[in-house]
Amino acid sequence: MPCPGPTGGSVATERTSDTVDTLESMCGIVGFVGSGSSGTQALDVVLDGLRRLEYRGYDSAGVALQTAQGLVLEKRSGKLGCLESALADDPPPPATTGIGHTRWATHGGPTDANAHPHLAGEGRVAVIHNGIIENFAELKAELVAEGVSFASQTDTEVAAHLLARAFTGTGDLGEAMRVVARRLEGAFTLLGVHADVPDTIVGARRNSPLVVGLGDGENFLGSDVAAFIGHTRQALELGQDQVVVITPHGVEVTDFAGVPVEGRRYVVDWDAAAAEKGGFPSFMAKEINEQPHAVADTLLGRTDPAGRLLLDEVRMDESVLRAVDKIVIIACGTAAYAGMVARYAIEHWCRIPCEVELAHEFRYRDPVVDGRTLVVAISQSGETMDTIMAVRHARELGARVVAICNTHGSTIPRESDAALYTHAGPEIAVASTKAFLAQITACYLLGLYLAQLRGTKAQAEIREILTQLQAMPDKIQKVLDGLGQVRQMARWMADSRSVLFLGRHVGYPVAMEGALKLKELAYIHAEGFAAGELKHGPIALIEPGQPVFVVVPSPKGRDPLHSKVVSNIQEINARGARTIVIAEEGDTDVVPYASDVIHVPAAPTLLAPLVTVVPLQVFACELAAAKGLDVDQPRNLAKSVTVE
Ligand code: AGP
Repeated sequence: MPCPGPTGGSVATERTSDTVDTLESMCGIVGFVGSGSSGTQALDVVLDGLRRLEYRGYDSAGVALQTAQGLVLEKRSGKLGCLESALADDPPPPATTGIGHTRWATHGGPTDANAHPHLAGEGRVAVIHNGIIENFAELKAELVAEGVSFASQTDTEVAAHLLARAFTGTGDLGEAMRVVARRLEGAFTLLGVHADVPDTIVGARRNSPLVVGLGDGENFLGSDVAAFIGHTRQALELGQDQVVVITPHGVEVTDFAGVPVEGRRYVVDWDAAAAEKGGFPSFMAKEINEQPHAVADTLLGRTDPAGRLLLDEVRMDESVLRAVDKIVIIACGTAAYAGMVARYAIEHWCRIPCEVELAHEFRYRDPVVDGRTLVVAISQSGETMDTIMAVRHARELGARVVAICNTHGSTIPRESDAALYTHAGPEIAVASTKAFLAQITACYLLGLYLAQLRGTKAQAEIREILTQLQAMPDKIQKVLDGLGQVRQMARWMADSRSVLFLGRHVGYPVAMEGALKLKELAYIHAEGFAAGELKHGPIALIEPGQPVFVVVPSPKGRDPLHSKVVSNIQEINARGARTIVIAEEGDTDVVPYASDVIHVPAAPTLLAPLVTVVPLQVFACELAAAKGLDVDQPRNLAKSVTVE
């Protein structure tokens, strides 16, 4: 992939209505301090660490080195190779202290200016960051009022200027970082260096990983152990709300108040390949387990202090959105199922007709679309050609298009009127999991935003739904923690020739997604369909031993469909099917007719797919692994289908 040309250095750019502040999540972070006695160069260590982190797919990278001539910074959009070429063309002076960063842009272009590190204090402070600083807007306003000018649209640069200001006040880098960390809200891993504090890196973490690598006369920092596993296996884990200062011969850890704390020492027993997967057997397994963060991060930074939704990336005139009389969601595969899930919520909250159309069908059906149609294009990669062509067709017909995308700088958001980015982080496995949950979450946010704008939901109701949404990551985690039975079941069903998936209402697209995962990963024929459709034909498929997953709505009393789906289970159970039921914990009605019951935490009906799909993802992943298949790169599939 060619390296984008340098888009100029850190040239201050005015924030226009078209630029949005960027929030950094799921980036790669490396820091190194060495005594120099071994001759180890910081640049070599930092680049080695960034290479190990790049596997997750990054769109810009940078380094800052503490040299005899002060801080030397180099950063480039594009793959890591672009940065390496720039460094080779103009080698920096020797340095034994340095920090490096690979960025996965979620908002704000993958440009040189937005790449990390970010400078402050007249170039004497450099900072890199992973996470989302939720209150960056008010902090930025405070700094601008003090006359600080910004060279990027990132939230990270706010932290850099705050660190420079705090160091001026304290003269101590560790204390300066504590001052900064106490002011930040959200999720962050920060590393900082100061030209006046040699052989030192300061770090801070909240709701975002940071780990210390312990060496002999040298120490390391990383967003995960892959950053330094080539140099040491001795590690020190940092806890929540902690600051660390590393020098070649010392590591000091405190809480944000400055009270010394002990980190947890351990020996990394993973090999480099396993480290890249965070210790999981596959990227698929890793990404399934990252889903609580993907949902939480997608929700972060979307409301103002009064709890009103802020979706400034949806850059569309409010009067246009108020006039919308139809919503058409276009997408392919898993992204289309995300749209099918969200459609129930959007129609219920906004009272606007909402349909979901497969992108490759949309263009050829002569759709009824005009200037009052809002088209929502959902795409993880932003490069799916079927969806790109459908977006172009929709715009030719006069529709406004909002992209829900996980990849900043990709074609679909670029060709849309507005974009609402998911913050799932890079999704490496071909079969989509965390992006799916993040897409659903982003669609919920769009639906609530439209409801707020059009007044179809009172602010109090919107706040209540947001509170319910913010509780979902913990519920997802609870499902992940209790899936031992699914793993055993997967081994039992490894020889299955066909598996059926039933669901109703929002459970219907969940059943479709569960079937797709099994097809994609285990190469087993699977079919998902609406449970109400059973008696209209598919029940003929039921024979003794036929595995059927059934996604059950909330227990009766809260959901009228519950008893109907229980009847469906009775019908297939009576014909000998093996019924594996996904049901809300405490739901005992299903037990007499289920061969297996997988309980998930109670959730509001419209949000339940965020938990009910997880056992189906894990089942498909485990069954594929039990069959010895490559779960990350299934046969015949591509991560992004860039041809029609
Ligand atoms: C998901 O498991 C599949 N790999 C596939 O269906 C995918 O969701 C579809 O190709 C759409 O991709 P996109 O989200 O990148 O547009």
